[in-house]
Amino acid sequence: MDIPCFSILYFISICMFALEVCKSVDVLSSSETIRDGDTLVSAGEKFQLGFFSPGNSSYRFLAIWYHNIPEKTTVWVANGDNPVNDSSGVLRIGSEGKLVLVDQAERVLWSSNNMNATSQSVVAKLLDSGNLVLKDDSENVSGNYLWQSFDHPSNTLLVGMKLGWDLRMGLDRHMTSWKSAEDPSTGDFTFGVDLGGIIPQLVIRKGRVKYFRSGPWNGIQFGRMPMVPNLIFIPKFVNNSQEVYFTFNHFNESTITRLVLNASGNHQRYLWSEKTQEWTMIYMLPYDACDVYGKCGSNSMCTISNSPICSCMIGYQPKSQAEWDTLVWSSGCVSKNPFNCSKGEGFKRLKGVKMPDLLQFTMNTSMSLKECELECFKNCSCRAYANIDATGGGSGCLLWFGDLLDVRILSRSANQDLYIRVSASDLDSVNSKGKEWVAVAISMAFVVLSVVLYFCIVWKRKKHAQGITFDLQAEDENNLHLPIFDMVTILRATNNFCDSNKLGEGGFGPVYKGQLSNGQEIAVKRLSEDSRQGLNEFKNEVMLIAKLQHRNLVRLRGCCIEEERMLIYEYMPNGSLDSFIFGKTRENSLVWRRRFDIIIGIVRGLLYLHQDSRLRIIHRDLKASNVLLDNEMNPKISDFGVARVFGRDQSLAKTKRIVGTYGYMAPEYTIDGLFSTKSDVFSFGVLLLEIICGKRNREFNHPDHCFNLLGHAWKLWLKRKVPDFIDPQLQNSFDLSEVVKCIQVGLLCVQRHPDDRPNMSSVLLMLDSESASLPQPKQPGFYIERSSENTDVEMSRRDGNSNKITMTLLEGR
Ligand SMILES: *[C@@H]1O[C@H](CO)[C@@H](O)[C@H](O)[C@H]1NC(C)=O
Ligand SMILES: *[C@@H]1O[C@H](CO)[C@@H](O)[C@H](O)[C@H]1NC(C)=O
Ligand SMILES: *[C@@H]1O[C@H](CO)[C@@H](O)[C@H](O)[C@H]1NC(C)=O
Ligand SMILES: *[C@@H]1O[C@H](CO)[C@@H](O)[C@H](O)[C@H]1NC(C)=O
Ligand SMILES: *[C@@H]1O[C@H](CO)[C@@H](O)[C@H](O)[C@H]1NC(C)=O
Ligand SMILES: *[C@@H]1O[C@H](CO)[C@@H](O)[C@H](O)[C@H]1NC(C)=O
Ligand SMILES: *[C@@H]1O[C@H](CO)[C@@H](O)[C@H](O)[C@H]1NC(C)=O
Ligand SMILES: *[C@@H]1O[C@H](CO)[C@@H](O)[C@H](O)[C@H]1NC(C)=O
Ligand SMILES: *[C@@H]1O[C@H](CO)[C@@H](O)[C@H](O)[C@H]1NC(C)=O
Ligand SMILES: *[C@@H]1O[C@H](CO)[C@@H](O)[C@H](O)[C@H]1NC(C)=O
Repeated sequence: MDIPCFSILYFISICMFALEVCKSVDVLSSSETIRDGDTLVSAGEKFQLGFFSPGNSSYRFLAIWYHNIPEKTTVWVANGDNPVNDSSGVLRIGSEGKLVLVDQAERVLWSSNNMNATSQSVVAKLLDSGNLVLKDDSENVSGNYLWQSFDHPSNTLLVGMKLGWDLRMGLDRHMTSWKSAEDPSTGDFTFGVDLGGIIPQLVIRKGRVKYFRSGPWNGIQFGRMPMVPNLIFIPKFVNNSQEVYFTFNHFNESTITRLVLNASGNHQRYLWSEKTQEWTMIYMLPYDACDVYGKCGSNSMCTISNSPICSCMIGYQPKSQAEWDTLVWSSGCVSKNPFNCSKGEGFKRLKGVKMPDLLQFTMNTSMSLKECELECFKNCSCRAYANIDATGGGSGCLLWFGDLLDVRILSRSANQDLYIRVSASDLDSVNSKGKEWVAVAISMAFVVLSVVLYFCIVWKRKKHAQGITFDLQAEDENNLHLPIFDMVTILRATNNFCDSNKLGEGGFGPVYKGQLSNGQEIAVKRLSEDSRQGLNEFKNEVMLIAKLQHRNLVRLRGCCIEEERMLIYEYMPNGSLDSFIFGKTRENSLVWRRRFDIIIGIVRGLLYLHQDSRLRIIHRDLKASNVLLDNEMNPKISDFGVARVFGRDQSLAKTKRIVGTYGYMAPEYTIDGLFSTKSDVFSFGVLLLEIICGKRNREFNHPDHCFNLLGHAWKLWLKRKVPDFIDPQLQNSFDLSEVVKCIQVGLLCVQRHPDDRPNMSSVLLMLDSESASLPQPKQPGFYIERSSENTDVEMSRRDGNSNKITMTLLEGR
């Protein structure tokens, strides 16, 4: 078909017209202007500069906003206090090389405050970081700007912006809140770095009054703001002789996140969700009542998990008991007995606190903690002391005089100990009672500051769950939402990971028992090892594992992804199989029928993992302690899929890192890192033989030979003395032919060559049917005592995995 020539021309002219109009530029030269309606767009189309009106306001403001986000989100406003009242605003570069915003009447509403430029070739450029910079175009030096908007934040901090001081120029960059969401003029609150002598703190102020305080920088963190990198942003605090500032970077370039100081003084982090196309707040500060500056008055402590939250420090009592009783704490506490520097005075350590505000203090960076104590002791008006710098075990001396204000009990922050002066009589009473009077509370700090993923919040919102007390069973099984537990819930449930709640130390990390507020019992596995997986991958992986449901698999109930990654399982009241088969007391020793049922259950669970589930999971760490028993003694395999969660490709047959437990690992896996379903079969064989014999492969020893359990079984098999292998605890409660069959299957499973070993469906067939004829086993792999083969192998593979091996070696002791 012939296309008429004019239509092509028409098309071309349209294109050219469009190009002319829509060509977005990122540079404003001194001969150009930006009028209301024009914009600058950064080169990568990330940010846009132009005029806008917030909400219903009719005023026009020069601002920068995200170019690609449909919901107009401004990150910087120039003339917040001086709006243009119509659409006549014009931005240009003035004759002095400054950016100026003028209205119709040529009134200057705003201008950049740089020095007069000597050069004529000054240009303004909007960078992809969201920074509007003014620079001399004839100079090549990048970063040498005449002026930049990043030095004059409004209420938003973007990646790469610095909050704090450039000491060389005396520049204090702080965030300033808007009056309201519709009014970008200067609001009540500011957020910045207080230098307080030379010990910096992050402080939100209302006017001049402190509203929130992070606690002093101790070289590692602020009390209330751990500088812990996470999957969304990487926070950083820089303190040197030239600059003192807080900043953050992306974890992933494609993440869009910003920090805002809102009109009521809340400092909040938002994350843009591509999926839901909305901003989600992932944390805020102040977060709770204890964050409000001086909430409990002086000489007191705020503990958010206590009721009431405020308590006097030891040796102090409420200034006004009547007020205190009505939960008004602001008058604080006064000392019971005036300190008189009598002999027996001493100090009491408060562990894990946000340090008192730096009101009256002295410091000496070269003193040790011991010298610090002495220094404080010598001066009767010294009320407390602490290290300044927590790096390298702590150094420096900070002494507080006068009242101690705004102390909060945190936890987990091992580096934040405060020593407060205690009179002799109080010290005695503490010691005689012998009780730890400091209630170390569950810290919300972590929770607040750590990252709650957007889907977590979205999910929570959906559930209207504050403390997350849902029941998974209520969920639609087909459309399973993976419950994401928040850190507070987990901390509460496990009593702040109390040692008495610890169930054991498995591969990948310790496991704690917990109880949700609805009474449901859970087991929480803290994944100690660093996963190299991204959050989404991790979540997907966990979701897949949660979908693996079988009566012989421990059910995954959810996960936690704030700060630490954790897996939450159903709790198994009867614990793990090892205590039943290797238990010293043998009171709970299992009869043969029970053991056989357990064996069959393990086979079914493993078969499901290997073949029947959609995923084809290789367990890689099957062992007695990974088989849990429910209240009816049904076995349930735990810890499956964890290797996947760590991003180790299951389809790859070769791994650089060994996950597994000494004594259960197949030779090809231990030596070459080759794993397959057949290496699981090997582990199963070891476990099967252990169940029959009642002894651990790893600890097995025999007066007559130096073989391990496998070697022992093999030896007896060859000598046709198999009954000697059977656990004497079984007495005569078994059918010998059945037990012998099991031993034979066990030996088949632990054969040296993977190809010789049966797969789990054959194992099930062999064990389940009366008549199946079994092949003769060949020599097992690793049957010699560990003094030879095994140990060497372990040693040679210690690199890169030393913790794991050490941990599993310790386990059986
Ligand atoms: C803006 O105006 C609309 C219509 O007058 C009103 O419904 C809305 O509440 C206003 N928004 C705000 C934030 O005041
Ligand atoms: C807008 O500003 C001009 C001067 O810049 C002033 O004369 C005028 O009254 C203002 N209009 C309104 C509606 O405030
Ligand atoms: C900058 O230029 C303006 C006008 O050209 C002049 O009045 C002012 O004194 C100059 N400032 C400095 C610091 O040179
Ligand atoms: C700017 O840098 C380019 C290469 O980076 C160089 O070729 C050019 O001469 C420089 N111009 C000036 C004015 O320094
Ligand atoms: C901060 O930096 C200054 C200058 O380098 C140093 O003297 C001071 O000890 C540092 N403070 C902290 C808490 O690291
Ligand atoms: C960053 O996120 C994007 C999109 O989620 C992903 O495709 C990319 O691989 C991530 N990059 C890194 C380095 O994690
Ligand atoms: C600021 O944020 C807090 C916490 O989300 C909220 O309660 C408050 O209403 C916000 N203030 C304004 C003015 O939006
Ligand atoms: C100091 O305190 C001790 C014990 O509280 C008391 O016995 C002593 O009299 C006090 N001395 C002075 C000078 O107040
Ligand atoms: C700091 O302490 C050291 C050691 O006790 C002492 O030598 C030094 O004089 C002290 N410095 C100041 C400024 O007090
Ligand atoms: C105790 O320390 C304070 C504050 O540094 C100081 O003013 C006072 O002189 C000191 N008193 C004695 C006895 O050293």
